[in-house]
Amino acid sequence: MEKIRLFKPSVGVEEIANIKDVFKRSWLGYGPLVKKFEEKFSKFIGTKYAVAVNSGTAALHLSILSQNFKKGKKILVPAITFSATAASVLYCGLEPKFVDIDPNNLTIDFEDLKKKYSKDCVAVICVHMGGHPCMMEKIIPWAKKKKILVIEDCAENCGGIYKKKKIGTWSDISCFSFEEKKIITTGDGGMICLNNKHLYHYLKSLSFHGWDVDPWKRHNDSFVKKKSKKKHWNYQINNLGYKYNMNDLLASIGLAQLKKINYFNKKRIYILKKYLNGIKKCKIISPVYPYVLNKSSYWLFQVKTKYRDDLIDFLKKKNISTAVHFVPLPLHKLYKKYNKNLDNAMKVWKEIVSLPFFPDLSNKKVNYIVKCLVSFDKKYLKYETL
Ligand SMILES: Cc1ncc(COP(=O)(O)O)c(C=O)c1O
Repeated sequence: MEKIRLFKPSVGVEEIANIKDVFKRSWLGYGPLVKKFEEKFSKFIGTKYAVAVNSGTAALHLSILSQNFKKGKKILVPAITFSATAASVLYCGLEPKFVDIDPNNLTIDFEDLKKKYSKDCVAVICVHMGGHPCMMEKIIPWAKKKKILVIEDCAENCGGIYKKKKIGTWSDISCFSFEEKKIITTGDGGMICLNNKHLYHYLKSLSFHGWDVDPWKRHNDSFVKKKSKKKHWNYQINNLGYKYNMNDLLASIGLAQLKKINYFNKKRIYILKKYLNGIKKCKIISPVYPYVLNKSSYWLFQVKTKYRDDLIDFLKKKNISTAVHFVPLPLHKLYKKYNKNLDNAMKVWKEIVSLPFFPDLSNKKVNYIVKCLVSFDKKYLKYETL
């Protein structure tokens, strides 16, 4: 079998057609397509506003920054997540307070969240790990009582519905990633979704150097012939902003991807069903999540086994790519000092492995991967019973 990648973006003629249009207009930077993508995306998710940025990391950074939290305050973050979740806390001069994960679904453990909370905590970031929804129905009312902000890190779920509510609409602010491996992609990119108008304008400004005017509007105003006292070229810098905006080239890809998102999620469900059915009799390998497939948007197919490293080597020999999502952040040098009572995370990560999973993964390849998993399971079961 040829090499099987772990992830592969599904892009084609629709994206190329949109890119061609951008090239024809010769306007590649921040422009009307960014606004169009923001409007379509917020409509799709179900929030009033969306701010398009150039990465999921930028989305998280600006979401926290926009709250102007006092330096040194703490934000509750799950111990198993991508590094950007915690890095964005540090970028803002705050401290991550790691919370253990539920070993049955890798999302933030509600009981430990309550335990880890202290008066100096100002927010919690809920990561829908691998696309599996956090227990938002418990976290939201609890956070309201504690008067702390909830941010959803939706980098790994786009379009999923949990308890009849879209992922990304449970919290005050939600952050998405369109990095090349994600549910939809713009190569790199991100989005902040929210309902607060004032905060939306502030975030827009923060995403473009802290300006008080939209640069596309400024460009258009330069052609307005009516005599006006207003100088179109003028702008005020009110905030210390960043160059985090999305551009028209990326937005054009995003618009084509958004049209296919429901198809992508359906294809993911179809592949997951095949995988789960294929490994259901395995004794040593089991799924990491209690995959709830209806209206889901899973980004990862992860299994666990106590022979994880052997399985990775075995699959390597079969040309099947794997990865570990993720080594707990407090095991990294930068985050070591924040490591306190994270027993589940420290145990479970040693058993998890991610397998190839993307909408264009063929039946033939899924069957081959399943066959390899089943034969590994049989081989190691024999050793166990010896
Ligand atoms: C949970 C999580 N948060 C944040 C990010 C950061 O997104 P990006 O790579 O677009 O900056 C990622 C993706 O890599 C992620 O998986």
